[in-house]
Amino acid sequence: MTTVIDGKAAAAVLRGEVAVAALALREQSIVPTLAVVLVGDDPASAVYVKSKAKAARESNVDVRDHKLPATTTQAELMALVAQLNADPVVDGILVQLPLPAHLDSDAVIRSLDPAKDVDGLTPISLGYLAQGRPTFVPCTPKGCMRLLRDVGADLAGARAVVLGRSVLVGKPIALLLANANATVTMCHSKTKDLPGEVRRADIVVAAVGRPEMVQGDWIKDGAVVIDVGINRLATGKLVGDVAYAAAAERARAITPVPGGVGPMTIACLLENTVEAARARKR
Ligand code: GUN
Repeated sequence: MTTVIDGKAAAAVLRGEVAVAALALREQSIVPTLAVVLVGDDPASAVYVKSKAKAARESNVDVRDHKLPATTTQAELMALVAQLNADPVVDGILVQLPLPAHLDSDAVIRSLDPAKDVDGLTPISLGYLAQGRPTFVPCTPKGCMRLLRDVGADLAGARAVVLGRSVLVGKPIALLLANANATVTMCHSKTKDLPGEVRRADIVVAAVGRPEMVQGDWIKDGAVVIDVGINRLATGKLVGDVAYAAAAERARAITPVPGGVGPMTIACLLENTVEAARARKR
């Protein structure tokens, strides 16, 4: 029998821990504060930003929303980031991605104060992670590692296969797994014999954004499967990057979609914000 990894429950536990930590800071007159920057009107991003605000309130974290029109220029966005960098009230800054195509997101991310980089996406944060002494860890990978911990996955010496090499998920999770002494293979669109790579894996992390691309019979018996994908089919149904039902027959533990990794991302963002507040204001 497979264990279905309940990300919703795990996220609620983490948000509870964050709420306690945030309250303790508030008692010292330190109010953990997250600035969220949303440019344009991508509907998925708007939903995401709204659920961030709700979760933050429940975790005793203050949120300052900055909604900018899709016509915002690079200079205007950079000016806002500079203002937030300089604002002593703001502990963490999240610039919601993707930005509209005319904006240079790399330049925006580079301009964030690393002390406020609660998304863990600046070259400084990712560099520390690569050195094995992380400061802020990107939220989705951080959530995946917590789920692996909760399910008792033995990472030392395990073969871990990561599908996808994005800066948001694939690369940082590969680094985190390697830092935890797993033997990590990062797979991508040019990988030869992807099924063969996955079949050897004790831990599979799928983050490619292709509905049900990982077939159930690729999964080794007893593997732990973390599915980061959230794909909406034409029917309206949400599915992951892994063919769930068939994979669940083989996996020791697996995250469902929805209700697996998704809820952890926001909880980890709030955790990073409280860490930023503690570090900056002590
Ligand atoms: N868009 C989707 N996920 C994320 C995330 O973790 N951080 C940011 N900034 N944008 C996102």
